[in-house]
Amino acid sequence: MSFGDSKAIVTNQDGLNEHLDDVVKKHLSHEFLKPISTHTMDAFAQVHEKVINFSGNIILDSCCGVGQSTRILARRYPDALVIGVDKSLHRIQRNVQDANEPDNFVLVRADLNDFYRLVVDNHWQVAQHFLLYPNPWPKAKHLQRRWHGSSVFPYILKISNSLILRSNWLLYLQEFQRAAELAGKTGTIGQVDDVEPLTPFEAKYRASGQSCWQLKFEPYTNHI
Ligand SMILES: C[S@@+](CC[C@H](N)C(=O)[O-])C[C@H]1O[C@@H](n2cnc3c(N)ncnc32)[C@H](O)[C@@H]1O
Repeated sequence: MSFGDSKAIVTNQDGLNEHLDDVVKKHLSHEFLKPISTHTMDAFAQVHEKVINFSGNIILDSCCGVGQSTRILARRYPDALVIGVDKSLHRIQRNVQDANEPDNFVLVRADLNDFYRLVVDNHWQVAQHFLLYPNPWPKAKHLQRRWHGSSVFPYILKISNSLILRSNWLLYLQEFQRAAELAGKTGTIGQVDDVEPLTPFEAKYRASGQSCWQLKFEPYTNHI
């Protein structure tokens, strides 16, 4: 598939997943006990050191892929420390540096199912959390692979009061919005209208004529 030829999401759901409420309520009322992997614990320890020695705002860019958004956010917020996290070493090591490379970001290879719990347990104050174009898992049976259907969802809500989640699948955002509502949080959905695409996936979807959507939990401008 070439750039500009990205397929629209195909799903066998015709609305919110029928098990959404039950799954989310279960996760909201049960502790997530799965042990944390050693590799994520080690990766977290290294970045934790930077965070506790940093006095400015912390921005978390989850599922950062090649780190394009991490670099753009670092340039946009030069006084912040922007932490991009992705489980794929191949992606975060892809050489996408540009002439204008900022120095206020780090890319970390870690599994967010574990990393999120470490962030919450270590009381990071995250000014803004970005979760841009997570894998959609559009088959109904894969609800629990979507972030709002996962066991770590309650932790995602605790990372920051300011979350921006983007997807080319509106239903993903509507489900996340509903899941957050079950936890007492209200988010608003709108269309992405940035001039500069924030990520390679955003650029690809746009070039294919697809709409990109954003779910926003505020406050998000007050911190920065
Ligand atoms: C569709 S890509 C989007 C990448 C980037 N945000 C963009 O828009 O170009 C989803 C990314 O999520 C990452 N990912 C999926 N599950 C993850 C997990 N449990 N922990 C960390 N990263 C994960 C994948 O490695 C992949 O890079």
